[in-house]
Amino acid sequence: MPRIVIQNLGNLSIDSAHADRKVIELIHENGTDWMHACGKKGRCTTCKMIVLQGMENLSPETGPELAYRQQGRLRTDERLSCQSVLLQGELLIRVAKINQFPHIAYTE
Ligand code: FES
Repeated sequence: MPRIVIQNLGNLSIDSAHADRKVIELIHENGTDWMHACGKKGRCTTCKMIVLQGMENLSPETGPELAYRQQGRLRTDERLSCQSVLLQGELLIRVAKINQFPHIAYTE
């Protein structure tokens, strides 16, 4: 069963019965706030996640991700959560400092 663990949200664990959902959809369906300024259309980078483990469990990079990477706006350890589908296994991620909400108490 695919699982997302968000390290700096107290290792919040989100299990999914589906193997074909975008990461941001799984996070939102869990009731967890995650920034998505362009409405999950791949037109910003506010939904980016820092991937600590499980990069190989994600779908291939999309056109917008490749473009942002070329522009230096997406590092090699980052993916856009609205463009990435968790295909299998576990994904360990962090919320980037720049995309943290003021109303949420993030952990280390
Ligand atoms: S929400 Fe804008 S790129 Fe994902």
